[in-house]
Order: sequence, then C-alpha cells, then structure tokens
Amino acid sequence: MMRSSKIGLALTVLLIAVTAAGAASIKNTKHDLSSGSTGATYKATNTDQICVFCHTPHNSAQDIPLWNRANPTATSFTLYSSSGMNNAPVKQGFTADSISLFCMSCHDGATGLGGAVHNDPNGLAITMVGDDTISGDANLGTDLSNDHPVNFLVTASGISTDGNLGALDIGTNPPTMKTADVTNGLPLFRSARGATTLECGSCHKVHDNTDAPFLRTTMAGSKLCLGCHKK
Ligand code: HEC
Ligand code: HEC
Ligand code: HEC
Ligand code: HEC
Repeated sequence: MMRSSKIGLALTVLLIAVTAAGAASIKNTKHDLSSGSTGATYKATNTDQICVFCHTPHNSAQDIPLWNRANPTATSFTLYSSSGMNNAPVKQGFTADSISLFCMSCHDGATGLGGAVHNDPNGLAITMVGDDTISGDANLGTDLSNDHPVNFLVTASGISTDGNLGALDIGTNPPTMKTADVTNGLPLFRSARGATTLECGSCHKVHDNTDAPFLRTTMAGSKLCLGCHKK
C-alpha cells in the first residue's frame, strides 16, 4: 500500500502543478482561436496555432508587440470624455499605436477575426467555424463613449488634481498606477500620447483568464476599480 499511496501523492502534486500552469495560460480560453480550442466558439477550421491571430515573429503589421493584424482605422472611434476628468480626455480617435486599438481589431464587431490576420500560417488564409466577426456583448462597436476612458495620458499632475487616484510609478517596467488596496500596480502603456497611457490592457490580461473576463485582478469587492480609484 505504501507504494501506491506514494504514487497517489506524486500524482496529486503533478495535478496541482499542471492546474497551476494551465490557469495562467491563453490555451483553451476565448482568446485561443485555434482549431482545437475547447474554450472558444469563434475558432479556426484550418490552423491549430494560437499566437498567429495576434503575433508574428517577422514582418509584423505593427512593430510592438509584433502585431499580426490589420487594425481598423484609428480615427473612426469615439472615446469617453467628460468635463470631470483631470487627466486630459480624448474624444475623437485612437492613436495608431494604441494597444486598445489592437483589441478593437476584433472587438469592433466588424474586422474579421481570421480575415484580418496579416501573415497567415504557411501562406494559407485562415477560415473560421461560423462567423468571422464578433457579435453580442463582446462586440463594443466603434462608439466607446459609454466605456471606461482609454488611450489617454495619465499624469502626476492629473492624479494630484483629482486627489482620489492611486500613485503613478514610472520606475517600474511597465510604469504602473496603484492604491494601497492592491499589491501589484496596474500597468500603463506607451503610445503616441506618452509613456503612461491607460489602455484596455491596464484592466485586462489578454493571455490569462484566471480572473474572468481576462482581468488583471478580481472584481470581488470591486478590487480592480479600487486598485486605481480611492473611493
Ligand atoms: C487575442 C490576441 C492575442 C493572442 C492570441 C496572443 N497575444 Fe500576446 N499580446 C496581445 C496583446 C494585445 C499584447 C499587448 C498588451 C499586453 O501586453 O497586455 C500582447 C503582448 C504579448 C507579449 C509582450 C508582453 C508580455 O506579456 O510579455 C508577449 C511576449 C506575447 N504577447 C506573447 C504571446 C504568445 C507567445 C502568444 C501565443 C501563445 C500570444 N501572445 C497570444 C495579444 C495576443
Ligand atoms: C484576435 C481577435 C481578438 C483580439 C485581438 C482581442 N480579442 Fe478579446 N475576444 C475575442 C473573442 C473571439 C472573444 C469571445 C467573444 C464571445 O465568445 O462572445 C473575446 C472575448 C473577450 C472578453 C470576454 C471574455 C468573456 O469571458 O466573456 C474580454 C474581456 C476580452 N476579449 C478582452 C480583450 C482585450 C482587452 C483585448 C486587447 C488587449 C482583446 N480582447 C483582444 C477576440 C479577440
Ligand atoms: C477600467 C477597467 C477596464 C478597462 C479600461 C476596460 N475594461 Fe473591459 N471590462 C472590465 C471589467 C471589470 C469587465 C467585467 C464587467 C462585468 O463582469 O460586469 C469588463 C468586460 C469586458 C468585456 C466583456 C463584455 C461582456 O459583457 O461580455 C469585453 C469584451 C471587454 N471588457 C473588452 C474591453 C476592451 C476592448 C477594452 C478597451 C477598449 C476594455 N475592455 C477596457 C474592465 C475594463
Ligand atoms: C488602471 C487604473 C484604473 C482602473 C483599474 C480603473 N480606473 Fe477608472 N479611471 C482611471 C483614471 C486614471 C481615470 C481618469 C480620472 C481623471 O482624469 O479624472 C478614470 C476614470 C473613471 C471614471 C470617469 C470619471 C470622470 O471624471 O468622468 C469612472 C466613472 C471610473 N473611472 C470608474 C471606474 C470603475 C467603476 C472601475 C472598475 C471597473 C475603474 N474605474 C477602474 C483609472 C482606473
């Protein structure tokens, strides 16, 4: 019995390790559009590659982050703006290098999921099971004036005038902002607006669905919101 219980223990340890490794992966999430993905309804018929929908090792469409998609027109979007904002809001248009625009190359509900892939695997155009565009709640359209502001520059002076925002840390890579409610700061991104732009990726973790839906931290007790806002 001694032997089998040791094997049992080894198996349990292995299972825990596999579960932990699996949890932090894009595999089989809704962002795994490969033909074998068990988590996605939108997926390919003819490629089991995962990264190719967004990245390529060579000849990328946008340098950073080796972006493999034809993005929609940056200026065709309307963003959130309000007179209450202390960091300058942007009403009209993304910058062409905005990570948020990259998200919209699928979440605008109009750009093809497989159709907009810039370099197809083995030169073969990707075809999808069913629709090539997103419909339903995950289709945010091009009017983002009713969505949390993105692609605007967060500045130390904007934070200080507001008085209820977390602190900016430009010493980390990437720079972050955080309140005392979170251990890890939430990332800010570089764009043509500056080095500390708030983007979709400040709240969302595109490769990891541990805190669904692809969030940087849990929404339990509104922890994510309280990570930047002192309310
Ligand atoms: C659905 C689109 C999408 C897919 C699929 C995807 N990525 Fe990404 N990836 C992004 C976006 C957007 C960024 C930049 C935003 C960010 O870092 O949050 C990024 C950033 C990165 C970065 C740089 C930042 C970091 O997190 O280290 C690496 C490396 C990366 N991806 C690797 C991969 C690999 C490897 C795969 C396949 C296993 C993959 N990605 C699949 C969208 C995607
Ligand atoms: C290659 C296309 C593609 C890109 C690029 C992409 N997504 Fe998605 N995303 C999808 C698809 C497809 C779904 C599933 C939609 C559905 O099933 O209704 C999805 C779902 C989601 C969901 C909802 C998940 C859920 O469980 O309901 C979130 C949140 C999300 N994406 C955020 C992002 C963010 C943020 C970015 C950019 C950093 C991004 N996505 C970039 C294709 C993409
Ligand atoms: C301030 C934080 C924040 C920012 C910025 C943000 N999101 Fe979200 N997003 C959330 C949270 C939180 C949820 C989950 C809401 C819920 O479950 O009630 C969510 C949900 C979603 C969903 C799922 C919607 C649904 O109803 O199924 C998608 C898709 C999505 N976000 C995409 C994006 C994209 C694309 C951007 C950038 C244009 C973005 N998000 C910017 C916090 C954010
Ligand atoms: C990564 C940091 C970050 C996170 C996370 C975040 N916010 Fe924000 N939010 C900001 C910043 C910065 C502003 C702009 C504030 C300003 O300039 O006055 C803002 C603006 C807003 C505004 C508009 C304020 C105005 O004056 O018009 C609202 C409302 C808001 N956030 C709610 C939320 C909610 C709800 C959540 C959680 C779902 C959330 N935020 C998560 C950083 C964040």
